[in-house]
Amino acid sequence: MNWKEQVGGWLRPLVYLGRNPISLIGAVLTTSSAITIVAFWLFEIVLGGGAGVYPYAGILFYLILPAVFILGLLLMPAGALLRRYRLRKQGLLPTIYPRVDFTHPLLRRATALISVATFLNIVIFTTASYKGVQYMDSVRFCGTTCHTVMQPEYTAYLHSPHSRVACVQCHIGPGASWFVRSKLSGVKQVFAVLFDTYPRPIPSPIGDLRPARATCEQCHWPQRFEGNILLVLNHYEEDEANTSDTTVLVMKVGGQSANGPEGIHGHHLAPGTKITYIALDTQRQVIPVVTYTDASGKSITFRSTSIKATPQQLAAGEHRVMDCMDCHNRPTHTFQLPGDALDDAMQHGYISTSLPYIKREALAVLKAKYPNRPDARSRIASTLENFYKTQYPQVIAKQSAQLRQAIQRVQAIYSRNVFPAMDVTWGTYINNLGHMNWPGCFRCHDGSHVAANGQVIPNDCSTCHDILAMSEHNPKVLNELGMK
Ligand code: HEC
Ligand code: HEC
Ligand code: HEC
Ligand code: HEC
Ligand code: HEC
Repeated sequence: MNWKEQVGGWLRPLVYLGRNPISLIGAVLTTSSAITIVAFWLFEIVLGGGAGVYPYAGILFYLILPAVFILGLLLMPAGALLRRYRLRKQGLLPTIYPRVDFTHPLLRRATALISVATFLNIVIFTTASYKGVQYMDSVRFCGTTCHTVMQPEYTAYLHSPHSRVACVQCHIGPGASWFVRSKLSGVKQVFAVLFDTYPRPIPSPIGDLRPARATCEQCHWPQRFEGNILLVLNHYEEDEANTSDTTVLVMKVGGQSANGPEGIHGHHLAPGTKITYIALDTQRQVIPVVTYTDASGKSITFRSTSIKATPQQLAAGEHRVMDCMDCHNRPTHTFQLPGDALDDAMQHGYISTSLPYIKREALAVLKAKYPNRPDARSRIASTLENFYKTQYPQVIAKQSAQLRQAIQRVQAIYSRNVFPAMDVTWGTYINNLGHMNWPGCFRCHDGSHVAANGQVIPNDCSTCHDILAMSEHNPKVLNELGMK
């Protein structure tokens, strides 16, 4: 037997079995997608892009083409195996496989070629998987791929203190098991979007959000001593002069000090302590039972005297360990109510308080119902313009720049908070930090959560903050602090 026959004999089954439409399609798919993918990577390097820069192109280059590449790799052996199976069934399969002789150069070259191709395929495969994962973890992918669905959360996120923190740092956190979990639930969500069966609005709280320990606490140190924070909160009345009322609070955020746990963070987050509660509703607003366990393991249970619940209701309720999210449930998707948003804009000068009745009029246009966002923008502008044209022509004459700026701001407030396509409107998402617009802290600190020994979860106004001024026009304390 000469060498040609030997090599031929060795390669013949491969070539023979590989010569089938399925394997050929596989080879074409793998080669062409590999070339395209590598070309895109080079393009990315030249343009200095990165995963997630191109939201839609990304789906093609990071997810679909790598999938085609892998499909091709799988089709090649699959076609050969299928052909072998068929031939064997027909009794046409060659039975003699010749001896393999590696001393022969042509065989060595053929083997080298196959090895290099395999090595390249492994490199392309691992790089593509890494890039695919990176892409799926990018803010662009999470925030903009399913544009309408994520628009409310993405918009609020962009205007929040966490706008430079990736979605996955709060929603997934480190570790492989949560990554896999999130991707599995992601598949379900993709189907919900494809078949348009997703809920509007997206429900909150998220039932299986990862506990804060593995997300928030990767950046924020819970024992850090924040101390007291001075809060100056301006509100504006709906009168002609938009009279301001100022509340000045010293918020006792506290933390861990030499004297032990202090203030709000200190009492809720002290090492070794734990607060658990039972909520009767999915929004976690109705809390009949709270248990506080101190560092020594001693626990005390507070029961609400105002919420009636049967043992069955309690057993069926959500049992939860309190963490950052029970107070800071809107650290980044911070939707505002129209009054608060206007007060904020007026306090920071984006809406001039010298425009007569601007608070009252802006509030009315914000609260009105509009079929969609473009319509809202134009009606907000025309309604406010008409009001000043008919009631205060001097504003149109002398303050048109201020009016234009105010209108733009009112439109922006609407755009950041109301999303008719997702049924998200004012107050859809509850904010638990505080007690003015929603029960918030008072879900537990309402003075009616009492323990068997008579101890009450404290409710006096100075437990959480000292009130230095309450709804005053020009409070004296701000002058004393040199803040006016
Ligand atoms: C700073 C942390 C943080 C970041 C960053 C973050 N989220 Fe969230 N997200 C939260 C918290 C906290 C909740 C509310 C969870 C709860 O109450 O159970 C939430 C809730 C949501 C919800 C459910 C609806 C709602 O408003 O409660 C969606 C959808 C969502 N986030 C999407 C995103 C997307 C998309 C991004 C990136 C563009 C992102 N999140 C970035 C912390 C974060
Ligand atoms: C990747 C790091 C990172 C993660 C994760 C993170 N944060 Fe933050 N957070 C920051 C940074 C940085 C700031 C300061 C932003 C600034 O001052 O502009 C901040 C600010 C805050 C503030 C102050 C906001 C304000 O109005 O000034 C709160 C409250 C907060 N984070 C809560 C949370 C909560 C709750 C979570 C978990 C759901 C969380 N953070 C997760 C980095 C992070
Ligand atoms: C019992 C409710 C509660 C819990 C639990 C809680 N916080 Fe806070 N936190 C507050 C309040 C109230 C403030 C004051 C903010 C305000 O009023 O504007 C605050 C303020 C902050 C600030 C801003 C401090 C500053 O200097 O501006 C950060 C950051 C923060 N919290 C992070 C966290 C993190 C991270 C966790 C979880 C480890 C957490 N908080 C748990 C109630 C809470
Ligand atoms: C799920 C129930 C619950 C919620 C919601 C809650 N707390 Fe508490 N809080 C407790 C319990 C339980 C204690 C411990 C009571 C004790 O020390 O006997 C406590 C203690 C405190 C203390 C220390 C009181 C003291 O003894 O000096 C402060 C301050 C405080 N909470 C502030 C807040 C603030 C601010 C909020 C809202 C942002 C809030 N809490 C929301 C359950 C809650
Ligand atoms: C369990 C803690 C807690 C108790 C008790 C408490 N507050 Fe507050 N209060 C808060 C928090 C948290 C905020 C939110 C501050 C912010 O807007 O960042 C707040 C905000 C306020 C504000 C400012 C609201 C605004 O938007 O102008 C006022 C006024 C106020 N509280 C009054 C009171 C009064 C009066 C009492 C006594 C009946 C009281 N609080 C008891 C925690 C508490």
